[in-house]
Amino acid sequence: MAKLIDGRAIADKVYVDLRRDIAEAKSRGLTPGLAVILVGDNPASRAYVRSKDKMCRELGLYSVKLEMPASTTHSELLARVEELNRDPAIHGILVQSPPPKQIDEAAIVRSLDPRKDVDGFHPENIAKLALGDPTGLVPCTPLGVQRLLIESKIDISGAHVVILGRSMIVGKPVALLLMQKNKNANATITVVHSRSRNLAEITRSADILIAAMGQANFVKVEHVRDGAVVVDVGINRLEDAASERGYRLVGDVAFDEVARKASAITPVPGGVGPMTIAMLMSNTVKACRAVNSV
Ligand code: GUN
Repeated sequence: MAKLIDGRAIADKVYVDLRRDIAEAKSRGLTPGLAVILVGDNPASRAYVRSKDKMCRELGLYSVKLEMPASTTHSELLARVEELNRDPAIHGILVQSPPPKQIDEAAIVRSLDPRKDVDGFHPENIAKLALGDPTGLVPCTPLGVQRLLIESKIDISGAHVVILGRSMIVGKPVALLLMQKNKNANATITVVHSRSRNLAEITRSADILIAAMGQANFVKVEHVRDGAVVVDVGINRLEDAASERGYRLVGDVAFDEVARKASAITPVPGGVGPMTIAMLMSNTVKACRAVNSV
């Protein structure tokens, strides 16, 4: 049976360090500030935005939550981002994805001040990630995955890491991050996706399998080598009449069967999710320190 990788416990460790950094910033009269913009009323997005805002408050960060109606135009959203770019109390700006279809998301990301792009999605930050330039902001979920592995004493260097999914939020940046030339990376990377031939054959050669394709219970026992480490990035809502909320959360991995074969596995919820929020907080503090040179 696989060892369970406890994302909540590891996130709590991150917060211990972060609280110290925040106290130090405050002692210099600086309060890191994060603005989160939610356009529309996607229930999953609303839940994420709420937990980000709550965590900011718990840590004593300055938090602004902007909720805009689903009918918001592209230029209205652009105007809000530009205001926040100019606001010295705000060090991080996050526009929750996906926005409604009238919004050109790529153009909104380009309009962000890259120094405030705590999602790490701006082309300048993606380029810095590819170049291995540590002054950039790195996407939160990839950073969270890397930190989970490091804290769980799982050797990334030299390992074959297979990533399922090629999204801009997870698949591509986690590939760039874990192939970097440093001791917390140095992985051999393969990215597989919906068009890959011999998918199961490739995933079975993974020492570390990262599932991030957004399909409930996709990864089955036949995708996993004996003793592999499995990181489940998926957060899918499955209807469940027996649950109070009417749904339950499941990952991209069929947990019960895969846990019998893997050596370590992250649960959903309580695995990667809490780490993503912790890394967002960490990026906000990093952004605040960088612009103030402290
Ligand atoms: N939607 C799902 N994950 C993310 C994320 O990491 N950042 C943003 N902005 N939207 C998301």
